[in-house]
Amino acid sequence: MKKIQISIEIQVFDSVRELSIEDQILIEASKKSMKNAYAPYSRFKVGVALRMNDGKIISGNNQENAAYPSGLCAERVAIFYAMAQFPEGKISTIAISALSDKGNINSLVSPCGACRQAISEYEIKQGEPIKIMMQGEDEKIYVSTSIELLLPLMFNKSNLE
Ligand code: THU
Repeated sequence: MKKIQISIEIQVFDSVRELSIEDQILIEASKKSMKNAYAPYSRFKVGVALRMNDGKIISGNNQENAAYPSGLCAERVAIFYAMAQFPEGKISTIAISALSDKGNINSLVSPCGACRQAISEYEIKQGEPIKIMMQGEDEKIYVSTSIELLLPLMFNKSNLE
């Protein structure tokens, strides 16, 4: 038996002001979308904005349901909408913001496992990395330059060949 080590590198920005203007705009768009989340059960609102390679911005938010598993996370609402509208489009960056009515969230908000899997499908399809920007503690922004970093040993279409 031998062991392998898998390590990832995440960029941490102290505030949005350290990001490029276009990334700041994307974070703002995710916060705006967060306000429209339908989250009466968890009271945890998540907003996502994604930028396509041509500069288009598409946003989404979590949509809950009285039958809990029928709801959907903000990330999948946004990426499925984007891919449904622009099937040939490529996603360059995804920004994620969250707000709880129990108070401000002061910890890293990163996509759930199912959303990571969904995002990875499109990263592989488009052959170009998708950057993920996540809200962190103390106004920090955590950036993963590819979804692959957040989903080591991912299941993908090559497993089906
Ligand atoms: N949620 C998201 O929309 N995205 C995430 O990355 C984590 C969780 C939603 C699902 C549910 O509506 C609420 O947040 C609480 O889990």
